[in-house]
Amino acid sequence: MDKQAILDSLDLVAERSPDPAPQVYARLFARHPEMEALFVRDVTGDVRGQMLAQAVEVLLDYLGPRAFAVNLLRTEVHNHDNMGVPGETFPAFYRAMAEAFEAIGGRDWTPAMTAAWQEVAEAFGEIIAAEARTV
Ligand code: HEM
Repeated sequence: MDKQAILDSLDLVAERSPDPAPQVYARLFARHPEMEALFVRDVTGDVRGQMLAQAVEVLLDYLGPRAFAVNLLRTEVHNHDNMGVPGETFPAFYRAMAEAFEAIGGRDWTPAMTAAWQEVAEAFGEIIAAEARTV
């Protein structure tokens, strides 16, 4: 996985957008309209913001020390399952992030970034599938 491409993409987004959350969730709900209703309790958008922040932290740890990423993903699969969100949907969130970030990055977004984000969604999908096989 091209770690530098992911880090560069996150820098690009941070430069261009003070809060990419609305765009990420707009992409997610455009592809998965049924997911919007799940956030009904999140009237302020704080939970959505927190979830995005957590997803980025997991990614950064996964690219770096891998101190907690895999365990946290596994834990969140169970937490989300309990609230009616199947773990298999997690890659969709990373794909929504990639699409929103690409739109924010505009002409400075690169094919290497697209490829690296695709690999992230696939790698996390595999971690989650392995966890699902243990329950
Ligand atoms: C498409 C995939 C996902 C969906 C549909 C989803 C859905 C949700 C929903 C509906 C809530 C709010 C529940 C409430 O009303 O309190 C939530 C909270 C949360 N999600 Fe997700 N989730 C997804 C992926 C992820 C991923 C990939 C992570 C982290 C790696 C994550 C981490 C969290 C955390 C930490 C919270 C709690 C935030 C807080 O209360 O401060 N979610 N998720």
